[in-house]
Amino acid sequence: MGSSGVAALDRLVGDSDPMRLVKSRIAKVARGMAPVLVRGESGTGKELVARAVHACSQRSDGPFVAVNCGAIPENLLEAEFFGAKKGSYTGSSQDRDGYFQAARSGTLFLDEIGDLPLAMQSKLLRAIQERSVRSIGSTQEEAVDVRIVSATHKDLHAEVQAGRFRQDLFYRLNVIEIAVPALRDRREDLPALCAALLARIAQDGGLPVPHLSAELLRRLALHPLEGNVRELENLLHRAVALNDGDELHLDLMGGNVATTMAAADVASVTPSQLAPRSDAPASATEPKPAPVAEFKPTPPPLPSDLQAYLDQQEREILVRALHESGFNRTAAAARLGMSLRQIRYRIARLGITTPNGDDGASSHVDD
Ligand SMILES: Nc1ncnc2c1ncn2[C@@H]1O[C@H](COP(=O)(O)OP(=O)(O)OP(=O)(O)O)[C@@H](O)[C@H]1O
Ligand SMILES: [Mg+2]
Repeated sequence: MGSSGVAALDRLVGDSDPMRLVKSRIAKVARGMAPVLVRGESGTGKELVARAVHACSQRSDGPFVAVNCGAIPENLLEAEFFGAKKGSYTGSSQDRDGYFQAARSGTLFLDEIGDLPLAMQSKLLRAIQERSVRSIGSTQEEAVDVRIVSATHKDLHAEVQAGRFRQDLFYRLNVIEIAVPALRDRREDLPALCAALLARIAQDGGLPVPHLSAELLRRLALHPLEGNVRELENLLHRAVALNDGDELHLDLMGGNVATTMAAADVASVTPSQLAPRSDAPASATEPKPAPVAEFKPTPPPLPSDLQAYLDQQEREILVRALHESGFNRTAAAARLGMSLRQIRYRIARLGITTPNGDDGASSHVDD
């Protein structure tokens, strides 16, 4: 295994038995070409695992192309996956590669595979079986050498049973399964995870690494952390941002209030946090308007983790801009009204991998 593989495994913090198992499995399966399905709850580190599979493989010099299958409009899926010939659909003034072509001799990471619509599932199955794709508007099949790693937080078995996921595709993708454990099943990793996350957060912000007190660890250990490592990361992010210098404080109310309140940690919540907001109007002072509920669209539920939600939005926009500009970062930055420096920072912060690491004209699309 090369140094990039070792580094990628090191990034997966945790020495618990379930994490050791995950890591040894990654190292073992990385060598081959068999499709890997990474399964696990939200925030458990599925993407880190997928990246480690790539980094430990012989394809580590090739691209790692991450695709969020749930984030692409259905009418664009085929073009996004397989590419499109110039003029084959509105607005295409040049040939465009799809994800398959972009991932050539590397790894194609199909994230949230359970969200792929059925029609696209058939096309994907075909591409995997034939090991070739045909871009929209082309008469030619082109061979593509990619390794498929997919991930889902859904129970794909149940999705198959419910008729929402093709069984044949499921078997194709699920040749090797890596189950990433929930944080609650590896509580012993908490101290090491906190230390590693705090070090990274501090480094990103150019700050000294804050002290992790035993009291803070104890409170974290009592917190349910249903959002797994991502929730832990966000909690620590907030703690660092609100740090007054002396000691880190946890704002456990910032997370999912319902789960927090259900947990054993209720005792540590101060009364002021439980009081109703003072700016909320008292219901008695205002006459109730006539019921108009049937005309009011229900707003979407509030994100339980705003930062993770915003990161995800930002990520999708950046990935789209990059893709639409042939992975030329300068062009993508210009489209989004930011500088090259700014887009680089955001790409790095969100851990987006582009097929060509440099900022020159894209090697695979612009020519
Ligand atoms: N074992 C770990 N060690 C260090 N950091 C981790 C670990 N697992 C997850 N993380 C961090 O937690 C965050 C969530 O990880 P990742 O995006 O890989 O999870 P996911 O399972 O894909 O989550 P989601 O379902 O929300 O997409 C990332 O910032 C990642 O770096
Ligand atoms: Mg993910």
